[in-house]
Amino acid sequence: MTATEDPATARTRDRTEDSTAESAHERAAQRTDSTARAGSTAQTRTLLILGASGDLTGRLLLPGLAQLLATGRHPGLSVVGAGHEDWSAEQWSQRVHEATGKASEGADTAGRQTLERVRAESTYHQADVTAPGVLSGLIASLEGPVAVYFALPPRITVLACERLAEDGLAPGTRLVMEKPFGTGGESAAELNALLRRLVPEQQVFRVDHFLGKGTVLNILGLRFANRILEPVWNRDHIEKVEIVFDEDLALEGRAGYYDGAGALRDMIQSHLLHILALLAIDVPAALHERDLRDAITTALRSARVPEPFSASTRRARYTAGAIGERTVPDYAAEPGVDPARGTETLAEITVEVESWRWAGVPFVLRSGKGLGSRRKEAIVTFRPVPHLPHGFRGTDSPTRLRIGFGPDTLELDVDVNGPGDVLTLNRVTLDADLNAPDLLPYGEVLEGVLDGDPLLSVRGDTAEDCWRIVEPVLQAWAADEVPLEDYAAGSTGPAAWATSQRERDEG
Ligand code: BG6
Repeated sequence: MTATEDPATARTRDRTEDSTAESAHERAAQRTDSTARAGSTAQTRTLLILGASGDLTGRLLLPGLAQLLATGRHPGLSVVGAGHEDWSAEQWSQRVHEATGKASEGADTAGRQTLERVRAESTYHQADVTAPGVLSGLIASLEGPVAVYFALPPRITVLACERLAEDGLAPGTRLVMEKPFGTGGESAAELNALLRRLVPEQQVFRVDHFLGKGTVLNILGLRFANRILEPVWNRDHIEKVEIVFDEDLALEGRAGYYDGAGALRDMIQSHLLHILALLAIDVPAALHERDLRDAITTALRSARVPEPFSASTRRARYTAGAIGERTVPDYAAEPGVDPARGTETLAEITVEVESWRWAGVPFVLRSGKGLGSRRKEAIVTFRPVPHLPHGFRGTDSPTRLRIGFGPDTLELDVDVNGPGDVLTLNRVTLDADLNAPDLLPYGEVLEGVLDGDPLLSVRGDTAEDCWRIVEPVLQAWAADEVPLEDYAAGSTGPAAWATSQRERDEG
């Protein structure tokens, strides 16, 4: 306790610190329990990163990994990079150094030792992993169990896996697949079939880094550890659920990937459907990969976008504009963009979840780029009260729960008696900043890979279901059944969209 701190504050702080330490132990124990039941308890000994010289490895993978290693929880891990580029040992070492150096700053002794060892020992191999025998030879030369991270374009990943299927793999090998998982339902099913020839499903880790975001995982604690929410978490009390992920980033030089994907595939198919699933699932018995992933699959299997798509979906593309001080060119004029493709940079779909719990409740999913402000949240709007006592004045606004995904916040908008005239309703917001997680999302997902626990990975059947939900919409858009609207970069989106209007009103 500090000199100025009152005893109650000190108690709260101690409880928080104790529970943080406890929860780290509990989590480790729970992972062991979970992986034991999944049938694969061995810690990964070597992480082999394919595409080691690529952008994803430098920007997301190594920083997430370094932060994880800084916890000291994986002291024996070796990290090996492989790539098509002719990189020298120094170039690779420099890349590892950049990521680990920063993580060392906050690490304890065990964490620092792990980072130093990884930095000193990590090697880079120039390799064409699509050539016969190359990848399997490399894996066989490493200490197992090996986790192979395919940070590669999807087409190369498939070719590399086909080679592995010819050569076979050591039993405990784990395969980590980056998104997009396939280009549609059919190719996702083909890729799943190929992976089944290589390893059991529990050893396949399909990455959705949103499942590693602390705030996304907080949905589970919020829903299932609080008695007051679950009884009202259904169609009787909830009017609609919105999941919004508006980014102020524009194309950022990613035309090569993004122009072939668009907002519906890039964000809604890959990430937001999982947030929907966590908001919609029934209570699992345990946070075991099977219970949780079964529940997610059940929720997504009952989800669909109702026809006509002209009513349930919208798409738009940004034109030139300014975001703060930044001037943003017209998307269609960006280098590498083919305007004839009609790629959307903003997508919105209304999903129905066909179950007793959710029938009739719209789940509106919206995500886009080049917008004037960042807005990343799920908003649960409750139905009006059945009877408001006569005599109240003012507006009875709906109760709203907002879960922010960055900044990580929780807000509850409620009506109370107003100041001055006590019978006039007044809106107040109860808010809390949520704890920042220890790990970056990629670190969180990688920890599951190292522990052999696929809890935070997308299961094969779910990956196919996400495509099943969006594919009819993609077809309707390709057939121009829904107009491609436009919005100026830096705006809140097309003016007529209800979600854009709300952003203007509340932003
Ligand atoms: C990626 C998308 O998967 O997620 C990007 O490809 C998007 O387009 C990103 O910007 C958003 O994730 P985060 O973690 O930056 O919020």
